[in-house]
Amino acid sequence: MDQLPLLPAGAAPAGASRVRRVRLAGDADFAGFRDAARLLLRDGVAPQDVVWDTGGRPDDLFAAAEAAPSPVGREPEPGAAPRTAPRVTRAFLDAAGAAALHREPGRFRLIYQLLWRMADEPRLLSVASDPDVMRLADLAKAVKRDIHKMHAFVRFRDVPGPDGDAFVAWYEPDHHIVEAAAPFFVKRFASLRWTILTPERSAHWTGAEVLFGPGAAQRDAPEGDPLEELWRSYYASIFNPARLNTDAMRAEMPKRFWKNLPEAALIHDLVATAPARTAAMIEAAPTWPVQRRGAEPPPAPDAGAPDDDPPADLPAIAAAARGCRACPLWEHATQTVPGEGPADARLMVIGEQPGDLEDIAGRPFVGPAGQVFDRALAEAGVGRDRAYVTNAVKHFKFEPRGKRRIHKRPSAGEIHACLPWLERELAAVDPAVVVLLGASAAQAVLGRSVAVTRERGRPFRLADGRWGVIATHPSYILRLQTEDEKRAAFGALVADLRTAAGLLTQDAPGEPSPPA
Ligand code: URA
Repeated sequence: MDQLPLLPAGAAPAGASRVRRVRLAGDADFAGFRDAARLLLRDGVAPQDVVWDTGGRPDDLFAAAEAAPSPVGREPEPGAAPRTAPRVTRAFLDAAGAAALHREPGRFRLIYQLLWRMADEPRLLSVASDPDVMRLADLAKAVKRDIHKMHAFVRFRDVPGPDGDAFVAWYEPDHHIVEAAAPFFVKRFASLRWTILTPERSAHWTGAEVLFGPGAAQRDAPEGDPLEELWRSYYASIFNPARLNTDAMRAEMPKRFWKNLPEAALIHDLVATAPARTAAMIEAAPTWPVQRRGAEPPPAPDAGAPDDDPPADLPAIAAAARGCRACPLWEHATQTVPGEGPADARLMVIGEQPGDLEDIAGRPFVGPAGQVFDRALAEAGVGRDRAYVTNAVKHFKFEPRGKRRIHKRPSAGEIHACLPWLERELAAVDPAVVVLLGASAAQAVLGRSVAVTRERGRPFRLADGRWGVIATHPSYILRLQTEDEKRAAFGALVADLRTAAGLLTQDAPGEPSPPA
């Protein structure tokens, strides 16, 4: 519960008009609204006597014309009954904060009206059929959906410049959500310099902070670029004609978004050729091995949506990852394979992705690569039960060949899409030392491509201060041709694991610089 405290009465100017106009700092100024609402409640100002002005369209044009520009916080109305500030739940604040970003001009009046009523009707919010309560829920839902769409449909274009690449996107949200949506992009693209332009607001990430500015015109955003081509071919490759459901597509990706989506240009052709491609897939269908579905629960209702309130402990992270639809790999995998090991392990080992057996067992490193890994750990003197073992990507990516499923390396996009789960595991376990097995794990954690043979074995500090060691992936060892090559590579893996184990006991190690 959050209390809306009554603020002490200030030296408030008296005004002649009964109607009070509240000027907010902008369309998304919920903090300003809360401050004003406290004062208005204290003064006993009824909802119909307030005009909320965001600098754009006020919530009531006629009242606005009559209202004197009288700030709130003046003397109470003669005879006004001051309200006791209602106690409000987090859920209400969450819904009100979202509804406040709706384009609907009467949104602030609605929220104030609910606060006003709650003073007399403490159980108001539990009356789901109440028109005000329903309206608040509808507005909040629309805004949250708009934020979700923005996260999904912003497409950055690469703009090379003298100081490196910048990434610029043009987007047209339905509501006043730029500030609310920005933290997601900061988290996802922390290492890039990016700008999102919208008609009302712009957001610019400098690498250290987000700056918000006025809106822009679409012509300020660059036209297509090579990244877009890449994205188009990716979209074409993941488009599954057999699952084509144009109604669902329209619902998920409404037409109004199409004009700014590079992949939209493909949709017409992909849809037109879907029946023929489906027929071809049916012909080829027997080559897919039967999936042994385990106890995978159905996806969460808002699966794939970024969380405002991410799970913090390992079982909750694993449960949430099971509903992830942030990339297409879940579709053919048997199940999500989360990490395993002690929740307080000081050593975390990150592989690439589950293999065939891991996909069936639902546990990391239990197949042939896992056996090499176990042997190497044992030779390095580290019990597997002391390490938390996980993967950069939590679903098995493969290509069917006859009855076999052939491992396919995850793309940079798939690694990136899975990164939030790895980051949550890292935050939950909080290891002192992290071993990155192979190029995919190194790419996930370091955010760049890594030449493992050149960079392995040298400890360095990760951005969060932990120790990192890059090591050869056990599957690579299995693929080597000669016994001599295998022996040498296995010896290097053991040495790198020993190095990592040594860091666990090092009190004040030197500061080797991170790999460039
Ligand atoms: N290879 C990996 O990277 N991880 C596994 O879990 C199995 C094989």
